[in-house]
Amino acid sequence: MTDCSSSTTSTGPSTRAVHAGEIRRKPQHSLIDPIFQTSTYTFDNMAEVCQFQEAHAKGHVADRFEYGRYGNPTVAAAEAHLAALEKAESAIQVASGMAAITYTFLSILRSGRHIIMTDDSYRRTRQFCEEHLKRFNIECTVVPLGDYAALEAAIRPETRILFSETPSNPFMRVLDVERFAEIGRRRGVLTVIDATLATPINLRPIEWGIDLVIHSATKYLGGHNDLLAGFIAGSKRLIDLLREAIGIFGGISDPNTAYLVLRGMKTLSVRVAQQNRTAQQVAEFLAAHPAVEQVWYPGLKSHPGHELAARQMQGFGGLLSFAVKGDRAAAFRFMDALRLPYISPSLGGTESLVLHLAAMAYYDCTPAERAQLGMLDNIVRLAVGLEDAPDLIADLDQALRSIQ
Ligand SMILES: Cc1ncc(COP(=O)(O)O)c(C=O)c1O
Repeated sequence: MTDCSSSTTSTGPSTRAVHAGEIRRKPQHSLIDPIFQTSTYTFDNMAEVCQFQEAHAKGHVADRFEYGRYGNPTVAAAEAHLAALEKAESAIQVASGMAAITYTFLSILRSGRHIIMTDDSYRRTRQFCEEHLKRFNIECTVVPLGDYAALEAAIRPETRILFSETPSNPFMRVLDVERFAEIGRRRGVLTVIDATLATPINLRPIEWGIDLVIHSATKYLGGHNDLLAGFIAGSKRLIDLLREAIGIFGGISDPNTAYLVLRGMKTLSVRVAQQNRTAQQVAEFLAAHPAVEQVWYPGLKSHPGHELAARQMQGFGGLLSFAVKGDRAAAFRFMDALRLPYISPSLGGTESLVLHLAAMAYYDCTPAERAQLGMLDNIVRLAVGLEDAPDLIADLDQALRSIQ
């Protein structure tokens, strides 16, 4: 229903962010894709109904919609845009990043199958795999991100998915996506990457041979901390399969959200470029600060994933974690002293946000579980927004001084 504009395939990232996947001639010559606020679509007569159903049964793309759960023109425009940014054949937009993850796994896996995921993944993803997939007799093995021998060794005849984030949340570990894709291809297992933190500006996993890419569009794609949405991008064959299942599962994205995501994606390149720059400056500042013990940011040469990230990514991203010198109380005092970043979960938006990993994202774990995951009491995650770097640095500095 949408055509991916071939004229944008060899252009720069900002041009692609504005124009990728668009149909230039929109309804009523509107420049912007309208919000099609409708739950259903009408047929002029039964012959049209039969024609539509025949085309659908043959797998043909119809130039119309039937019912809101199966598609919407505004949502389709956002999907075509994201697909073009990811250099994927197709994409589907759903209600949240978690919906993108759970629907992908539920659509592809069935009883008796096995999934392998890397550690340091978003906690809810890991919970879904370890706790919920088990109820469907689907086993999950967690291997360390970057241990490719462990990954290969964990593959069984019933393994169907290899899943990883890159960079990972919150320690920003970097996966060799080319190697991951090669292992999946050679062993006949589908590879799925949650590239939320990278964005298609910094990394396009499909170019490296990955089968499916997942995004929480709540983060950088929407970019304004004002919506929840998710995407899955990949080959037309796989996305068609997911679309059939998701039309039944039901957690689709509405046209208003799709409009906001489309609008967000048009400024993605400039926002991410600034967030890459600011995060690098902030990371370097923190790494040299006497009140800071350690910084996790792939743009720092000291980060174990630095060389790999420099090779496969166009930027190191806008998220970093760091440990302040001191205990939980010192970390709390530091966060309370900040004037610019808000204390809040999430990342990728216009406002900088700080999160205390142990007390917020992992608050209901035992201290032993937190220690095992490395979620120590003095670690803070900073999601860099669009404030000026010198202002953010000055604010971090005064807050760090207050705990020295
Ligand atoms: C890497 C990553 N993937 C997925 C999600 C889930 O996205 P959502 O909150 O849109 O469901 C998050 C949320 O923080 C995330 O950080």
